[in-house]
Amino acid sequence: MATESSPSPQGTALVTGATSGIGAEFARQLAHDGYDLVLVARDRTRLDAVAVELREAAHVAVEVIAADLTNSTERDEVERRLKSATDPITFLVNNAGYGLPQEFERNSVDDEARMLEILAIVPLRLSHAVLGGMLSRESGTVLNVASIAGEAPLGLYAAAKAWPLSFSRWANAHYRSRGVTFTALAPGFVRTEFHSRLGIERSSIAPKWMWLDVEFVVRSALRSAGRGRAVSIPSLRYKILWSVMKVAQPLIMVFVARAGRASNTPTR
Ligand SMILES: NC(=O)c1ccc[n+]([C@@H]2O[C@H](COP(=O)([O-])OP(=O)(O)OC[C@H]3O[C@@H](n4cnc5c(N)ncnc54)[C@H](OP(=O)(O)O)[C@@H]3O)[C@@H](O)[C@H]2O)c1
Repeated sequence: MATESSPSPQGTALVTGATSGIGAEFARQLAHDGYDLVLVARDRTRLDAVAVELREAAHVAVEVIAADLTNSTERDEVERRLKSATDPITFLVNNAGYGLPQEFERNSVDDEARMLEILAIVPLRLSHAVLGGMLSRESGTVLNVASIAGEAPLGLYAAAKAWPLSFSRWANAHYRSRGVTFTALAPGFVRTEFHSRLGIERSSIAPKWMWLDVEFVVRSALRSAGRGRAVSIPSLRYKILWSVMKVAQPLIMVFVARAGRASNTPTR
């Protein structure tokens, strides 16, 4: 059991977006694997509730940092924690994120820029903050939550999710021989709060078989990260879809162009 005076032999994992969905599940599974935790999200009440649950259930030490990661002053505290040499972070999960409900041209440019920031700039900054210490210890794991959408030209969310995929592929190849691995988790649809926050009914965007269970997704991701894989795609059905998407890129472009023309057609 880890206590403040006896840190966990596994080390400490910092998880962003730990109040719900994929991030909360990462926190649960990492705690049960013996990691002490630092949990980050905006909602302090929910962070405290997850912390209480995990201290009791898994007997690990849990700190919370309430921060909006798109606010540079609040994010500074998280970057400082990631750089700590006395209580090092051995596992970073860049997970916090959200989508926007409207088409690109209808959203304000500031909202679009903030989404790009949480999905790409924040993982860049947090990975950079933790990397120096991990390299000096020749050990560490960074897990970036991307999306299968990042492999296709499917809007601004997908474009932002292409960043953690490409970054993790490069960083894993570059740093793995020095003891630090990077893995991008690229799931399909997962049952979390993501879609309800957008005001979207799950059944309206995808059939039941396309929805993955969060517990399964996180278990697959941790297995891939443990094996030092650059990309984790949970479930056979999405592995097949991933291969099809790569081959079908030109067809997807035709579909996207047609959909664009249709939405530009005035309706009377
Ligand atoms: N669900 C899916 O189908 C799916 C598929 C592929 C990829 N993903 C990705 O998975 C990640 C997690 O999403 P989820 O599905 O688990 O959704 P979720 O249940 O809505 O969780 C999102 C988490 O991010 C936190 N968060 C959002 N904005 C933040 C900010 N500015 N600063 C700090 N924390 C912030 C939220 O906490 P607070 O509100 O307390 O800040 C929450 O803990 C996202 O990156 C998402 O893009 C989801």
